[in-house]
Amino acid sequence: EEELKHGWFVGSIDQGTTSSRFLIFNGEGDPVASHQIEFENLYPKSGWHEHEPLELLASVEECIEGAMRKFTEMGYSRCNIKSIGITNQRETTVVWDSTTGEPLYNAIVWPDTRTKTLVRDLKARDGADTLTELCGLPLSTYPSSVKLRWLIDNVDAVAQAYEEGRLAFGTVDSWLIYKLNGGAQAEKPIHVTDSTNASRTMFMNLRTLQYDDKLLSFFGIDRTKIQLPRIVPSSDPECFGKIARGALAGIRIAGCLGDQSSALVGQCGFSPGQAKNTYGTGCFLLYNVGNEPVISKYGLLATVAYDFGKGRKPAYALEGSIAVAGAGVKFLMNNLGFVDQSAQITELAESVSDNGGVVFVTAFSGLFAPYWIDDAKGTLFGITQHTSKGHIARATLEATCYQTKAILDAMEKDSNHKLESLAVDGGLSNSDLCMQTQADVSGIPVDRPVMRETTALGAAIAAGLATGVWKELDDLRTVNRAGRRIFHPQMPKEQADKLFNKWNQAVEMSRGWVRD
Ligand code: G3P
Repeated sequence: EEELKHGWFVGSIDQGTTSSRFLIFNGEGDPVASHQIEFENLYPKSGWHEHEPLELLASVEECIEGAMRKFTEMGYSRCNIKSIGITNQRETTVVWDSTTGEPLYNAIVWPDTRTKTLVRDLKARDGADTLTELCGLPLSTYPSSVKLRWLIDNVDAVAQAYEEGRLAFGTVDSWLIYKLNGGAQAEKPIHVTDSTNASRTMFMNLRTLQYDDKLLSFFGIDRTKIQLPRIVPSSDPECFGKIARGALAGIRIAGCLGDQSSALVGQCGFSPGQAKNTYGTGCFLLYNVGNEPVISKYGLLATVAYDFGKGRKPAYALEGSIAVAGAGVKFLMNNLGFVDQSAQITELAESVSDNGGVVFVTAFSGLFAPYWIDDAKGTLFGITQHTSKGHIARATLEATCYQTKAILDAMEKDSNHKLESLAVDGGLSNSDLCMQTQADVSGIPVDRPVMRETTALGAAIAAGLATGVWKELDDLRTVNRAGRRIFHPQMPKEQADKLFNKWNQAVEMSRGWVRD
């Protein structure tokens, strides 16, 4: 047992919105080697957001090679890697030709709002109010369904492939698994997705974990014309195939989780009532509700938390999704030149003692949970001659904290339970200022682990569980527990409430700025 625990390693591909990584974890859940690559985000028109599918694949393959070089230098080899997990940005929609295996268009990335008008029309259709009960998601620009509909309606090559039965659809997990297995050249091409990723498409029934004809037909998708990925559990030794080439050729892929589910798993949030908030490009709070889905009445999503197969019941989560977190910092850096590196934003925000009356509603993709305002636009309030870059930096960090507070309030109403503390991870969780602000604004302690690659760890756990590195969830009890830092609320409640009211006022004022 002891030998098994220490001898095996598990690889994890983490394909996110702005970067790809490959990490190798040991049996204690510690990363021993890693490699990361940032790739290009394309914004061809206002509100459009795309990735080049082949570039995503190339970045993942390069990360594998880079991390494996370091792993080999440490004296290990490919033979020490028991299996690989994949975790990925969710909802992002890829379409390819199943005969050639080549993409038919760029991937439409999750925050893309080109489907705003389509969504408005769909909302007016019969049956629109029955969708959430079936799939857990509200109708918005966010899920894959509307992205796929747009592609079939607007891209000739996609429409033609659809008519000819050659159109393959997938989220990023499906695309990567397909290509890593050899794509169309594989002896038996693999086209699958796990139920956490499928729960973000709006095509899957949350209870049966299979495609639902009512959902497909609402979006006008004819199942006989399109190749949809087969939905499988998140942890399985057989379904995901093997890496076809490169430094890990022959190694089994045994885990697959959407990145937010993966972070919940990486935080070992296995008990109902546990929650985590991941501050990445966006920010996503997942609250484990147990083995039955809870459909929100207050603007949250119901989603599959994880589905470990082998007769285990799937776990569900209530989710609060915020479209812009780290993306706000990137905006200040890339578009406005405030800083040279994301990490410097905290220092800039600390150059002032408060926000100086500035509120920044970072609604670059409308506002997601719990508001769901598709036509909100990014809006800065409270600018005076006194306003400095520091105030705007502070207001940018605060925007995520306020939205998290709004989500926590909605969760409390949906679950009748007040969260006792919030486990955090993701890039922005490195900012002490941001985490203290989060504790102040939400009035509950914020609990940050030392090892913050929890998203990657989750997929490694899914793969490791399928291949015997860990036998049961109980084996993971001690993973990433030591040395966690707790940020306790320090701001008087009255002051926190005042700030939050101001934020809510700003949200109302950011509505419907331009109706197009
Ligand atoms: O739903 C979108 C989410 O999965 C993207 O995550 O970490 O790239 O912000 P991230």
